[in-house]
Amino acid sequence: MPRPDRHRSTVPRNTLRASAQADTIPPMHDRTFHIETFGCQMNVNDSDWLARALMERGFSPAPFGEARLTIVNTCSVRDKPEQKVYSLLGRIRQATGKKPDAFVAVGGCVAQQIGSGFFSRFPQVRLVFGTDGLAMAPQALDRLVEEPDLKLSLLDFSEDYPERDAVLGQGAVPASVFVNIMQGCDNFCAYCIVPYTRGRQKSRATGTILDECRALLDRGAREITLLGQNVNSFGQDSHGDGTTFAQLLHKVAALPGLERLRFVTPHPKDIAPEVVEAFGTLPNLCPRLHLPLQAGSDRILKLMGRRYDMARYLRIVDDLRAARPDIVLSSDIIVGFPGETEEDFMETMDALETVGYAASYSFCYSDRPGTRAEMLPDKLSREVKLERLERLQTLQNRLTERCLQDMVGRKVEVLLEGMSRKTGDEGDSWQGRDPYGNLVNVALPQGSDVRGRFLPVVVAQAKKHSLLAEQAGAPW
Ligand code: SAH
Ligand code: SF4
Ligand code: F3S
Repeated sequence: MPRPDRHRSTVPRNTLRASAQADTIPPMHDRTFHIETFGCQMNVNDSDWLARALMERGFSPAPFGEARLTIVNTCSVRDKPEQKVYSLLGRIRQATGKKPDAFVAVGGCVAQQIGSGFFSRFPQVRLVFGTDGLAMAPQALDRLVEEPDLKLSLLDFSEDYPERDAVLGQGAVPASVFVNIMQGCDNFCAYCIVPYTRGRQKSRATGTILDECRALLDRGAREITLLGQNVNSFGQDSHGDGTTFAQLLHKVAALPGLERLRFVTPHPKDIAPEVVEAFGTLPNLCPRLHLPLQAGSDRILKLMGRRYDMARYLRIVDDLRAARPDIVLSSDIIVGFPGETEEDFMETMDALETVGYAASYSFCYSDRPGTRAEMLPDKLSREVKLERLERLQTLQNRLTERCLQDMVGRKVEVLLEGMSRKTGDEGDSWQGRDPYGNLVNVALPQGSDVRGRFLPVVVAQAKKHSLLAEQAGAPW
């Protein structure tokens, strides 16, 4: 799903000790770093890994503008996040201008797209790394810290899934963690740049995935989200070991200690009946599915190259609800694809109502270089796209409110992630997610140490985008 916002992640979500080696060898040069992350959960996960890997090598996190090394992990899914990268690079230059040895590394999808073009446009940039280059980025950054005249690029796509060391450090990991199961995408939807920036689909070996899950569970993880651009075709590429996604789900779900399992993103065209059934048979598979529709008009779906039509999509929704009647669905929608008429758009609006999504991440169509849609005629004006987007988001807000309202009075378990704010004498307000993916706030006695624990609650009130609940049992 698109995550358009910049995620400030100087310190990885899990606080880990630097390795013993890093503790004992005093660094020769300033080894402070700061990471800014754009884009999807894969990028967030990649940035977390990179932060841990750098800390293992004796780097230490610092605030924006104060670190010697600033890493920008980029997204190019639409033009806007790409432009944000360029303006951020300008701000980094201003903020670190007084540090003569400050430098920048650009990673992720814009890095893969623009490549070494960054060196000439932004002299502070000394490393450009693509998605497969990430695994080698820590070593490259080590060299760049020691050799101030050097510039490096890591832009090749590797033949196999670029396994990286599982740098889990010594400490506990957060209760909710992500695990990559594959890289890249072979679908080439007409509008999408991801197959060019992330490369062809490469599945990880099942054993390696399970080992990583086990290690995370040993260190305190209780919820795992499996990540891939099209998880349904896991294992079915030339790099896969033949394990299907449904089989992988069963294997991961059976791991001792795993309370909750989620995955993102499935492509509707490839969802196997066994995956649908899993929602009915695996008790720890959460009843929430992000199933991107993109458009509700068969004509537009065809132009997009999505390879399903509305009838097929709605059959999947029916099957999912038959397997798990309380399943909650969310979607991605592109508004204003080239040639989209008012009638086409109204079919998308109808689809939203018919499915009753709890949330949808909707954006105006944006031309991406080298994609098929870039060449299509009948591009829509910005005004038309924005006007349609606003109507769609108004409808979605209404649907979201209805879904949240339906939760009032229900008893659910919330996995507590952190404190949202202190509420003084009455206690602290904690935040977490219920199995349906809803954000839940709950007041607890001051000083409660409940991070990473499950709490039974009863939902008391629906807010616009979240729920308010009351404690209804002991944390566990
Ligand atoms: N693999 C995932 C999505 C990856 S991209 C999937 O197939 O669902 C995330 C989302 O960005 C897409 O679902 C789509 O809604 C949006 N997106 C991709 N390219 C876009 C473009 N050119 N313009 C607007 N939105 C786009
Ligand atoms: Fe892009 Fe389509 Fe692949 Fe998703 S499935 S990443 S939208 S090409
Ligand atoms: Fe963006 Fe790349 Fe993810 S384009 S959405 S960061 S795969």
